[in-house]
Amino acid sequence: MDPMPKSETTVWDTPLRVFHWLLVLSLLGSWITSQYDVFQTTAHFYFGYLTLTLIIFRLMWGIFGSHNSRFITFLRRPKVLIRYLRGLDSLDNYPGHNPLGGWATVILLLLLLVQAITGLFISDDIIHDGPYHSSVSNRTADLLASVHYLNFDLLLIACGMHIFAVILYQFIFGKDLILAMLTGKKRLHMPPKKDLGKRHIQQGMLCFIIASLATTLLIGLAPEPNVDF
Ligand code: HEM
Ligand code: HEM
Repeated sequence: MDPMPKSETTVWDTPLRVFHWLLVLSLLGSWITSQYDVFQTTAHFYFGYLTLTLIIFRLMWGIFGSHNSRFITFLRRPKVLIRYLRGLDSLDNYPGHNPLGGWATVILLLLLLVQAITGLFISDDIIHDGPYHSSVSNRTADLLASVHYLNFDLLLIACGMHIFAVILYQFIFGKDLILAMLTGKKRLHMPPKKDLGKRHIQQGMLCFIIASLATTLLIGLAPEPNVDF
C-alpha cells in the first residue's frame, strides 16, 4: 500500500522555538562572559539568570505546552528507546523528538540547571559573589565552584554531541530538523495539521512571565552578602 502523501505539519510551537534559540544565546553569553580577559562577572550573572529563567519556563512548558513539547509525549519507556536504537523503529513515527532526542533534551536541561544553581552559591574571590554565597561555608562554596567548572565541561560535551546529532540527522539521514526548529514545520507522511493558533503564544508568554518572576523572587530573597575587609 502507498504511504500517505507528505504534507506540511506544525510540530514545534512558537514558545518552544523561541526558548531554544534564546537558550543558545544565553549559553553563549554565559560562556563568553566567563572566559579570557573579558570576564564580566555582572554580565555573567545576568546571562546565568536568563538561563535559569529559560529552564524554569521549559519545565512549565513540558506540562502546559503543545503536544510535542510535553514531557509525557517525548519521554518514552526504555523498551521503546531500545527498539529505536536497534533501528527497528522508523524516525517518521516521531513528528517531535525521537526517543533518543527526548532523553537527550532532559540531560541538556539538567546540566544547564545544575550550572545555573551552583553559580548562585559561588564567588569569583575578588568582589562578585553569587546571591546565595553567604548562605554556605567557604568549603561548600569551593566544592560548588568545582561542580560549576566540571559541569560546564560536561555541558560543552553534551552540546557538542547535540549539534553533531542534529547535523547527522540533517545531512546523512536527510531529516530537515534545523529548518523545523526555525519554522516549526516538517513535511511528514501525516494528515495536514492546522497551525497551533495564537493561544499557545499567549500561554507561552504567561509561562515566561511566571518563570521570570520566580527567578526575580529567588534573587530577591537571597540573604545579605558577607562584607569582609
Ligand atoms: C549550543 C547550545 C544548544 C543548546 C543548549 C541546545 C539545546 C536544545 C534543547 C534543550 C533541545 C530540546 C528542545 C526542547 O524540547 O526543549 C534542542 C533541540 C534541538 N536543537 Fe538545540 N541546542 C543548542 C544548539 C543548537 C544548534 C546550534 C542547532 C542547529 C544546528 C540546534 C538544533 C536543534 C534542533 C533541530 C532540535 C530539535 C531536535 C529534534 O528534532 O528532536 N541546537 N536543543
Ligand atoms: C548556565 C549558565 C552558566 C554558565 C554556562 C556558566 C559558566 C561558567 C564558567 C565556564 C565559569 C569558569 C570561568 C573560568 O574559567 O574562570 C564560570 C565561573 C563563574 N560563574 Fe558561572 N555559569 C553560569 C551561571 C552562573 C550563575 C547563575 C552565577 C551566579 C549568579 C555564576 C557565577 C559564577 C562565578 C562567581 C564564577 C567565578 C568563579 C571563580 O572565579 O572561581 N555562574 N561560570
